[in-house]
Amino acid sequence: MALLAERGIAGPIETAIVLGTGLGPVADALEGAISVPYADLAGFPAAGVSGHGGRLVAGTWEGARVAVLQGRAHYYETGDPAAMRVPLEVLARLGTRQLILTNSAGSLHADWYPGSLALISDHINFSGLNPLIGTDGDARFVGLADAYDRHLRMRLKRAAAQAGTAALREGVYMWFSGPSFETPAEVKVAKLLGADLVGMSTVPEVILARRLGLRVAGLSLVTNFATGIGGGNPSHTETKDTALGGSLALKRLLRAFLRARDDA
Ligand code: HPA
Repeated sequence: MALLAERGIAGPIETAIVLGTGLGPVADALEGAISVPYADLAGFPAAGVSGHGGRLVAGTWEGARVAVLQGRAHYYETGDPAAMRVPLEVLARLGTRQLILTNSAGSLHADWYPGSLALISDHINFSGLNPLIGTDGDARFVGLADAYDRHLRMRLKRAAAQAGTAALREGVYMWFSGPSFETPAEVKVAKLLGADLVGMSTVPEVILARRLGLRVAGLSLVTNFATGIGGGNPSHTETKDTALGGSLALKRLLRAFLRARDDA
């Protein structure tokens, strides 16, 4: 925190945004941006996945104080589901009111096309993992009934209409540890269980952020059809390439979201 203050980053932050694979360019929209590499910040992850910048960027966007975590740690990199604990705690200490987590995800529907954005309405975590395992006290028993904030979801849907991007679909995101992609049988099961999207991130961050009392929204950029959906056979290259194009739509959506904050 002292280091952030030294570099000129201070709270309160109105909106914090975590940018997933290939979505890093969204941070270019910030004005008066100050950026600090994760390597300078104790407890922040060493960003390892290609397509991830590994920087905390703070600035102004549409008049709002915004912080962006450009790059995240995934469970599959370290085996630690709490790998994002410190960055999220820092956001909370900066007075962040709301957190928008973005990711790339595989679609379980033949008509949820790569390149489209979807709001996460809920998640399924059948991984057996939880970032709060091993923490103390009653506060670890975090309720997840409204993990994905209704009000933020409504604002994001309205922003999509204002931004002229396609209407935002809403769906359930199922977390897989990765780094291997799912088998066709796993994707069938995910669909049977009620999932609409599959991915390798976000869920542990939602749990940590709710523990910290942050209001959370999740946005998925569909980068591919999940394994076996419409012949889908995802690869990391496909994921990254689609995400780069999708970052433009995400930028438009977030700009409209921040611009409309006065009617929050
Ligand atoms: N599966 C898991 N994670 C992903 C996918 C997928 O199909 N696409 C992007 N992230």
